[in-house]
Amino acid sequence: MKCDHVFCRKKFSSTVWYCAFIFCLPVAVLAQSSPIGKTIDPYAYIFPKDIVATHGCVVSAHPLASAVGTWVLQQGGNAVDAAIAVQFALAVVYPAAGNIGGGGFMVIHLANGRNTVIDYREEAPGLANPNMFLDSTGRPNPRLSLYGALSVGTPGTVAGLWEAWKAYGKLPWKMLVQPATDLAAHGFCISAQEAQSLNDARSDFLSYNTQPIAFVKATRWKAGDTLIQPELAQTLMRIRDKGKDGFYAGETANLIVQTMQKYHGLISAKDLARYRAIERQPIEFNYNGYRIVTVPPPSAGGVMLQQMLTMIHFYPIDQWGYASPLSTQLMIEAERRSYADRAQYLGDPDFVRIPISQLLDTNYLHRRISDFTPAHPTPSQDIQAGRFPYESEETTHLCVLDSAGNAVSATYTLNNLYGSKLVVEGAGFLLNDEMDDFSAKPGTANLYGLTGSTANAIAPYKRMLSSMTPTIVLQDQQPYLLTGTPGGATIITSVFQTLVDILDFHLSPHDAVNNPKFHHQWLPDVVYVEKGFPDSLTQALQQMGYQIEKREAIGRTELIIRKRKNYIIGVGDHRGDDAASGY
Ligand code: GLY
Repeated sequence: MKCDHVFCRKKFSSTVWYCAFIFCLPVAVLAQSSPIGKTIDPYAYIFPKDIVATHGCVVSAHPLASAVGTWVLQQGGNAVDAAIAVQFALAVVYPAAGNIGGGGFMVIHLANGRNTVIDYREEAPGLANPNMFLDSTGRPNPRLSLYGALSVGTPGTVAGLWEAWKAYGKLPWKMLVQPATDLAAHGFCISAQEAQSLNDARSDFLSYNTQPIAFVKATRWKAGDTLIQPELAQTLMRIRDKGKDGFYAGETANLIVQTMQKYHGLISAKDLARYRAIERQPIEFNYNGYRIVTVPPPSAGGVMLQQMLTMIHFYPIDQWGYASPLSTQLMIEAERRSYADRAQYLGDPDFVRIPISQLLDTNYLHRRISDFTPAHPTPSQDIQAGRFPYESEETTHLCVLDSAGNAVSATYTLNNLYGSKLVVEGAGFLLNDEMDDFSAKPGTANLYGLTGSTANAIAPYKRMLSSMTPTIVLQDQQPYLLTGTPGGATIITSVFQTLVDILDFHLSPHDAVNNPKFHHQWLPDVVYVEKGFPDSLTQALQQMGYQIEKREAIGRTELIIRKRKNYIIGVGDHRGDDAASGY
């Protein structure tokens, strides 16, 4: 879609003056440090899905955010700088999942060979307790953990971006925040998908906010409308000028705490002040001659990715071929076994002992898959381990590769679409509903018939288990492939399939991203297949005894592949507004 309406262009010019009047000084001072309204037109943009670049490449859920990332690279910024600017921009142009009120994980490969992870996952407020989502009969009440102030974990995004910049950034911080500030202040033209999504969320926005918010207007949103977020622009200015303290202290922190008090949430000034992003060792392992660098707990993603890839490699899956009944069955059985391990053992490593070396032990994984029987499903009831709760599928991923060989693969989220639906009054940003990723009542079935374990029980300051799986694949110690996706529990299986599709089946990057995916999560004992999944394969699996359920979409995968030094392919998923950009 090309959003190029004349009325939008006129509106932009008058809006610029209006906003320049309100925010004149900071915008004027930093005018040269932002491409918005100059090289990037927020009212006329397209959605490039597949590109070839020679120097650097950015792929994200929105073309304006990807363009901001490329601009940062062209200004001499590195991949970390660009990933920071893209995440601030997504917080404005993709409010469903882009955020400053949520959290995530950033996997970083530095050109000097070092690999690291920034964990900026949200954490439970200090007053959180294991029974906070149980009703008077002791049953979990998902409405409390999914909507409104009680569902909000202490946000981590701004701390994560700040720590990444302090450790590895190159350009001035202000330059990375300014494009997002301009997009919020001046507005941008929304797409058909965004209009639909805002209209769908309207009644929730009205239920959970008593003050007017930028996401609700008198009439329905339509493609080409302008979304202006003046309060968010002010918040971004505070972050731009004060760094992390522009969020976790001072006015923004006061506004968060006031919103919590008004709507009976738990986050306090102390919770905000003590929040820290944590730098962690990635999970790293060899696969097919490549080095996989991925995320450690408190995400389950990396552990499970290594488990599944290791299990399938005991069989000649490449010879069985892409989308053959046998290779698909093997992948389903590996997924089933890995998900069975997940919630029994995985949680916040700072609170629970995770037997990572045992879970990743080759002999253990060999035994785990040794009862795989071609053409016969292994019933999930025969697979023992803990169970896990439903996870929202709304998250967002971005990849950045720069010309020096630095790479960032980052996934961050508000959990559900627009998170808790609660906007911080006076600060204009949405808060997450990440508390729902904890097990509300370990050992008891939740709304979806699934049970969680104590490893992921709620405790003050604990980080909830995630499925986010930002991943970088190295070849000869250089970045070869960057990928990740939203999709809740399906994130891990989508990343798994994307890697196998490329590293084993040699699919094109476009097909690896866009071909229909499938998902098995142990319980329920069902194979979910995406719209477009081949009928012949569905029938073959059904004949083996698998129960199949169709789904509209599984994931929104972003991918960068470096074929040679000056030949970089970027692919944005066709399932959404995703876009690749580069130079
Ligand atoms: N909230 C989705 C995840 O963290 O995996």
